[in-house]
Amino acid sequence: MYDAPAPPLSEAELRSLDAQYCSWGDTVHYLEQPKFFEACEGSYMYDAEGRAFLDLQMWYSTVNFGYRNVRLNAAAHRQLDRLPQVASQHLHREKVELAALIARDAEAKFGTRGRVHFNVGGAQAVEDSLKVVRNACEGKSLMFAFQGGYHGRTLGASAITSSFRYRRRFGHFGDRAHFVEFPYAFRGPKGMSKEEYGEQCVRDFARLFESEFHGVYDLKAREAEYAAFYAEPIQGTGGYVIPPKNFFVGLKKVLDEHGVLLVVDEVQMGVYRTGKLWSIEHFGVKPDVLIFGKAVTNGLNPLAGVWARDELINPTVFPPGSTHSTFNANPMGTAVALETLRMASEGDYERTVPEKGAYFLEGLKELQTRWPQIGDVDGLGLALRCELCEADGFTPNKPLLDRMVAEGLKGDLEVDGQKMGLILNVGGYYKNVITLAPSLDITTGEIDLALALLDQLLARCARG
Ligand SMILES: Cc1ncc(COP(=O)(O)O)c(C=O)c1O
Repeated sequence: MYDAPAPPLSEAELRSLDAQYCSWGDTVHYLEQPKFFEACEGSYMYDAEGRAFLDLQMWYSTVNFGYRNVRLNAAAHRQLDRLPQVASQHLHREKVELAALIARDAEAKFGTRGRVHFNVGGAQAVEDSLKVVRNACEGKSLMFAFQGGYHGRTLGASAITSSFRYRRRFGHFGDRAHFVEFPYAFRGPKGMSKEEYGEQCVRDFARLFESEFHGVYDLKAREAEYAAFYAEPIQGTGGYVIPPKNFFVGLKKVLDEHGVLLVVDEVQMGVYRTGKLWSIEHFGVKPDVLIFGKAVTNGLNPLAGVWARDELINPTVFPPGSTHSTFNANPMGTAVALETLRMASEGDYERTVPEKGAYFLEGLKELQTRWPQIGDVDGLGLALRCELCEADGFTPNKPLLDRMVAEGLKGDLEVDGQKMGLILNVGGYYKNVITLAPSLDITTGEIDLALALLDQLLARCARG
């Protein structure tokens, strides 16, 4: 038996235990020595010395409503004190009310009756959606997905995630998706508008269905070999890449014409990150299936889920037990998610998020005028990107971002005589994009602070 020494352990002791006893396979170590944090509040994380770190990523867009949000934490405490555990063969009110809230909202927005199904993390919800789709499409197991797309690291989810890196060690347990080009305008063809590039991507995709020799469609039977297209409306891990407004309308038309379902993955961009509950709402199309996770509980509980059109998921086609897992629809998660969505709908995020996002983007554009290493900035709501390049403004510069991430975590940037740190996340096709997902409650003062800290980091790292 492990004999625990009296707490608190020093950081050196904890690091030694981490090195001996923790699997690092469940982490993403960007730094040689990941940082320990001790506390958090609002937009900030705090280390053991009480030093503040402004967080511009909020746990990969999970803590959209700020760390230790008072109202959401209170909902968790209430549930903990009343009904924290219920086996999933029983019912509890929070699950039913949450499903109804999401389904009614979707019905109002997409004009389609649907149902909601829960699980724990985003990848598990993706797995469940694969079962929904494969079941509805008579066992068809082939999917389309985007280059640059990310859907999680379970076996099924990594098969539809474009990076081979996540599959390399493990072989294939299912069919790998057919990966289609996403209109990533900054690195797209020159001499073409964003919209034209989006149209070109749709045309290239549509061409796959023109001849049986392209390997996806039987023109005689008028049937696709592929069941669904998995899409993040805005690519998250791919570097907060925002497609042109006309893109999904064109794509969905091709899918509808050929009987392929559209599954939108809102795990990272959902829950008002872009100023709408679901980011697909910006693009004028109705999904057949929608996957959510992360911020739906503000990161207080690993709850995720799937909304699907009724005919794909009602109990006659997708009966009890189809994907059961002990913790899905757990009362802590569903109670907090219910409160999160109620709180958000009572707020004014559809107005404030675009306003704050526009203010932040202006600041990034101003930085870009002074730093040629900033090749591209863009944003939708408070999902913002800042792509770092060599001084030519185009060649990807991952080492610069790596230096900035490490420097930010040292906690020795100085503002008004106070030392503080900055938490940045790494994303993008070339791992050279700062993917910015600040708290949706970030203040203008904090945005100014973020820009000043980014400027300081660039001064330290770009000239080095
Ligand atoms: C778009 C998207 N889908 C799915 C996932 C997987 O979610 P989880 O990490 O909760 O398994 C993520 C995680 O980052 C994501 O960004």
